[in-house]
Amino acid sequence: PPPPPATAVQARTLADLRSEAEARTFAVRRPDAPLVFADGNPESGVMIVGEAPGGEEERQGRPFAGPAGQLLDKMLAAIELDRSRVYITNLSLWRPAANRVPNAAEAAELLPFLHRHIALVRPRLMLLVGGTSAKALMKTPSGIMRLRGRWHDIEVEGHSYPALPTFHPAYLLREPAQKRLAWQDLLAFRSRLRTV
Ligand code: URA
Repeated sequence: PPPPPATAVQARTLADLRSEAEARTFAVRRPDAPLVFADGNPESGVMIVGEAPGGEEERQGRPFAGPAGQLLDKMLAAIELDRSRVYITNLSLWRPAANRVPNAAEAAELLPFLHRHIALVRPRLMLLVGGTSAKALMKTPSGIMRLRGRWHDIEVEGHSYPALPTFHPAYLLREPAQKRLAWQDLLAFRSRLRTV
């Protein structure tokens, strides 16, 4: 049976959103899993959304703290960004069991939280790293190969946010030949960043 509709997310501040996340149960959340909420600067105007924390993120309580995070930092540095100039979170605020990808039902359950998160941060631009966050936020079944490199307006709570999907750094670690396309995406991101 489909899951019951999620109760509306109430939080009016990021601190409240964090507490509200802590207080809720989710299908993807193991009872002992620590929350990995966000990193960086919520005032920066740039919001990056990944998929889900892994083991290192869970240990440090910080998104993108492991090998994929090191590559993400390099990608950001290539366009003169760092963690003080971006705000980073994930679709899932918990590491899924066995590091698997959150499934469609889990993603649907997490989405109202991510929407509230976006509405509280009000970024000028968003970078969606990987197919999982891109599909959920863009409400499409298309894969990242089709989605990447093109700007898309995401509607959240009556406001529109320009978002650029690109490859996930963990994928780029496995398929370094795709870094060429990721670089094009980063340049497109930088060009637009200069105008906002
Ligand atoms: N992969 C993600 O999508 N997010 C993280 O925080 C770490 C790895």
